[in-house]
Amino acid sequence: MRSTARHFQRYYNPEVGNAIRMDTNTNVLGSNPAAAKFLASQKMDVNDYPNTYSDGLRDALADLYDLERENFVAGSGSDELLDVAFKTFTEWNDNITVPVPSYTLYDYFVSMNGGKACAVDLTDDFQLDVDALLRPDSKIIIMPSPNNPTGNSFRPKDIEEILERSEGLVVVDEAYGEYAGTSMIPRVDEFDNLIVMRTFSKAYAMAGLRVGYSVSNKNISDMMNCVKIPYSLNMISEGAAIAAVGDQDFIRRSVKLVNDNRTPLSDGLIKLGFEPFPSDSNFILARSPIDHKAMTEGLKKKGVLIRDFGSKRRTENCVRTTIGTKELNDILLAKAEEVISGKK
Ligand SMILES: Cc1ncc(COP(=O)(O)O)c(C=O)c1O
Repeated sequence: MRSTARHFQRYYNPEVGNAIRMDTNTNVLGSNPAAAKFLASQKMDVNDYPNTYSDGLRDALADLYDLERENFVAGSGSDELLDVAFKTFTEWNDNITVPVPSYTLYDYFVSMNGGKACAVDLTDDFQLDVDALLRPDSKIIIMPSPNNPTGNSFRPKDIEEILERSEGLVVVDEAYGEYAGTSMIPRVDEFDNLIVMRTFSKAYAMAGLRVGYSVSNKNISDMMNCVKIPYSLNMISEGAAIAAVGDQDFIRRSVKLVNDNRTPLSDGLIKLGFEPFPSDSNFILARSPIDHKAMTEGLKKKGVLIRDFGSKRRTENCVRTTIGTKELNDILLAKAEEVISGKK
């Protein structure tokens, strides 16, 4: 096995069965309706290749954000674009700055591409430690905003300061950007070092179709398109994503549902003894009142999956749950209460 990959372990792959999934931060409204309608109506000639660079989707996104097709790179999930960014811009042994805690797969993409992930702790309230992140020897600084698993957005002024002072690229991963209300996308042409990542897996309710994109100035996007595997976004997923971009009402409804249910869920968790952290996204990280493994395993036995972050530094004894509908949250809270009280 390649030396940089020998320490890798397989990614999260739970036995799902009939369990309620509150562990992946997907959209609790279910499949994107415009995408589902597109899929049901399609009689595609799958003998043809898709468009090499997903021009149709990039045009739809350019319209949505009032940018140009050349500002975008489209691919198979934002995970592919993260990989492409490292493939395009890093050399063997380059240092990449990764905040802790943040998205677990960053370390994997960095080392897969031969780089070294340099961990820099977030502050006590999970904000960016700007001076610490600006390491002189770093090729890329990567950060999710809103952050996964903590749920909070970073302050735009801190992101801006990092962009201005960094000698290297700054990747702002906005996988949960629709929920946050702030975005760096409108600013991509202002900076020569900004890449924003977005996904159709969360608010767009299309995780199964694997669609993501990056937004940056045209120069950066062009370099990434040269490195990305041609045709990596299949034509069915691209067509569904174009349909989904056309239904912004669904995105507004999805965001409203999360906004309406965030505080009630957080309050319910507090009543059970959890300590939830502030969230700007569709999930909540909370310190568990009992052992984190007992909590996640106990819930799993009762048919509810949440995600365990309790063994990791900075999120000791913490678990993360998606914010559900009122009905889903009530089930989660009732089952958590049973787990805490030891009811079988
Ligand atoms: C912060 C962050 N970035 C990227 C991704 C990957 O999303 P995708 O499904 O588009 O590959 C996730 C998925 O959970 C995420 O939480």
